[in-house]
Amino acid sequence: MPEIEHGGGISRRSFVTGVVAFLGSVIASVIGIPAIGYLIAPGLKKHTSDEWVPIGKLEDIPMDIPILSTFTRTSQIGWERSATSFGVYVVRKSADEFDVFSNICTHLSCRVSWKDDQEAFVCPCHNGIFGKDGSIISGPQPRPLDRFEYKVEDGTLLVHLVEG
Ligand code: FES
Repeated sequence: MPEIEHGGGISRRSFVTGVVAFLGSVIASVIGIPAIGYLIAPGLKKHTSDEWVPIGKLEDIPMDIPILSTFTRTSQIGWERSATSFGVYVVRKSADEFDVFSNICTHLSCRVSWKDDQEAFVCPCHNGIFGKDGSIISGPQPRPLDRFEYKVEDGTLLVHLVEG
């Protein structure tokens, strides 16, 4: 409680207490705000990924036979680190032309696999069937298999992985 001097002003003690409290608040803000920002900033960051992933040398990719390639990527969202595995089917159509599909079914995201005897990608969950070109043959899936963009560099096939 401020003490009032006889002249009507604030006492020296109240003035010093007020100044100390004010400076303490300023110092706490200067130290505290960056510390709080450091702690919560990772949680506010949006995770995105955009990279070209090498799948294999062209000489190792046979003609017209779907080949499954898998790879794993680790991502950090906030303080949580997680690993995601990806499966990519590559079908070589000519020396430098490919179909590159995700192996994730477009219905409810089960993993499809190539069946030689059926000449088709088959989803085990609801019997969705896709052709070698990724098109829908039968089943509940709403669209063909998702395709990856690809390129060839130095004799290596790379696929474009975009997340986020
Ligand atoms: S998840 Fe593939 S058909 Fe349902």
